[in-house]
Amino acid sequence: MTELLQGDAVGIARAAALLRGGELVAFGTETVFGLGADATNDRAVAGIFAAKQRPKFNPLICHYPHADAAFADGVANQPARMLAEALWPGPLTMVLPRRADCTVSLLVSAGLDTMAVRVPAHDMALALLRETGRPVAAPSANRSGHVSPTTAQHVLDELSGRIAAVLDSGPCSVGVESTVIDLSGDAPILLRPGGATVEAIEAIIGPLRQAATAQAADVLRSPGMLASHYAPALPVRLDATSVAQDEALLGFGAAPGGAGAMVNLSEARDLTQAAAALFAALRRLDAEGRRLGLKRIAVMPIPSHGLGGAINDRLRRAAAPRPC
Ligand code: TXA
Ligand code: MG
Repeated sequence: MTELLQGDAVGIARAAALLRGGELVAFGTETVFGLGADATNDRAVAGIFAAKQRPKFNPLICHYPHADAAFADGVANQPARMLAEALWPGPLTMVLPRRADCTVSLLVSAGLDTMAVRVPAHDMALALLRETGRPVAAPSANRSGHVSPTTAQHVLDELSGRIAAVLDSGPCSVGVESTVIDLSGDAPILLRPGGATVEAIEAIIGPLRQAATAQAADVLRSPGMLASHYAPALPVRLDATSVAQDEALLGFGAAPGGAGAMVNLSEARDLTQAAAALFAALRRLDAEGRRLGLKRIAVMPIPSHGLGGAINDRLRRAAAPRPC
């Protein structure tokens, strides 16, 4: 049985005790819900891969209550310090070289000599991290390849019975995962667009190399970058300017009529509102579309600036050919 813990002092204390005991606990952050485990406990970290049914050991993000704790495990250079100062707590993950005395499980790094660190901007997550007193490894709390969860109920829908508890900290405010930047080499590389915009990051440390123009080897440094991901069960059609009756429509701005089902991410074309609504909307259209016997989810065009970068990245992967 998976315990549903209230987001109060009692729930946080219980969640921290479970984590220290090597159990898996999902918790909300400002981006998406994470599936947490004590990052210093190999067996607990291995449990994350089993619960998510991740086919491979993709590296995981370690969560910390403040930058000093993160930089005690990963080696921070000058850009890392500047980004931490400006954007933490917040939806930014930095890939750094592991310190020689780092106590984080090697499984978290999946064989790489780097690790990903982040300080989330969420009061309950920070309270949980402080109370646990250890780095917490947490990928998104969904089964591998599925849409990321933005409510406690989404987590239960996918992982009930497979994990010890979910801390119900309310719906996630940002709604897409953190931006991942690799700062372990000579020049910073954008590995995954996310909740911290490229514009905001470049204003602090200058131009980023984009993974798209980086070497294939760079892309492979972040295994979560490739292939079908964030996928609903129904096929996804992008850049739809019209819609058929046998399609569900993911709208943005003024939407055409005639769809079999519809969710509008933001009639006002507000990208922040759209990001926060994205994953819940995909889940709803997928469930409703399948119930009504619809053929696919059509998605209206969404601009690529600001949070639109992360939204379009997730939608492209949702639409990518699926592994069989
Ligand atoms: O917003 C988020 O980042 C959420 C919340 C829970 O914090 N977490 C999350 O984790 O999205 P996950 O496991 O779904 O995505 C982690 C990403 C993957 O693309 C992974 O390949 C990359 O970070 N990553 C982790 N460690 C890495 C490393 N050492 N080198 C390169 N990429 C790394
Ligand atoms: Mg994920």
